[in-house]
Amino acid sequence: MFRGMLESSIISRAINNGIVQVNLVNIRDFSLDKHRKVDDYPFGGGTGMIMSCEPISRAIASVRTQSSRVVYMSPKGRVYNQRIAEEYAALSHVIILCGHYEGVDQRVIDMEVDDEISLGDFVLTGGEIAAMALVDSVSRLIPGVLPEGAVKEESFNGGLLEYPQYTRPAVYKGVEVPPVLLSGNHEMIRRWRRKKAFEITMLRRPDLLADAKLSQEDLQIIFELECENIRYSNRKEGK
Ligand SMILES: C[S@@+](CC[C@H](N)C(=O)[O-])C[C@H]1O[C@@H](n2cnc3c(N)ncnc32)[C@H](O)[C@@H]1O
Repeated sequence: MFRGMLESSIISRAINNGIVQVNLVNIRDFSLDKHRKVDDYPFGGGTGMIMSCEPISRAIASVRTQSSRVVYMSPKGRVYNQRIAEEYAALSHVIILCGHYEGVDQRVIDMEVDDEISLGDFVLTGGEIAAMALVDSVSRLIPGVLPEGAVKEESFNGGLLEYPQYTRPAVYKGVEVPPVLLSGNHEMIRRWRRKKAFEITMLRRPDLLADAKLSQEDLQIIFELECENIRYSNRKEGK
């Protein structure tokens, strides 16, 4: 499952350049069972199988270092976001445990795991897709993986969603690119983008603004947007 991701585009370049290292560990290789079994029936009954302690514990021990953080991808974990990605990008070694079947014996989670992360409020078949999302989103934050400045203006940075982006042609199916972007006036473009970022964030994710550090200019932009909103509501109500 991991090969496609690790062998393509930005992540593969980061690996080839030695900026990021990804080591895949097959838990089955650490089973003491002659059939390489890693799961068993749940105590107390119920459907599905549970991953056993021993192979997981041995697999983790095979890669653990002094500085490792062990994270279990789990729907019961804290819900992943860009802030957690930044937290992980500052770590030097992360061991990601992917569960399968009905999950993992709680004792090995309690003994070995430092953190549990969920990709969102839904249930995946296994932890691999969640692990890939973690590896991808963390890797692109590591200096040298993306061109300098590339992550600076992205969504979630500074508590804002990103402003809308456009590329050529300047007119597509009769719809023009906002004229300011063709003006060549960098200051006007910067301010337009900042305003659009506030506009979309206030509309779709006002919760993010709690994290935004607001400058005097930002307060002015919010004031302008509020005024535009009032004018729009008044027009709609025929006032
Ligand atoms: C079918 S799920 C087990 C779900 C578990 N029985 C429950 O109800 O919480 C199998 C594995 O997928 C992974 N997984 C499922 N949903 C996930 C999510 N939202 N985020 C991260 N990992 C998830 C976990 O590693 C989990 O052990």
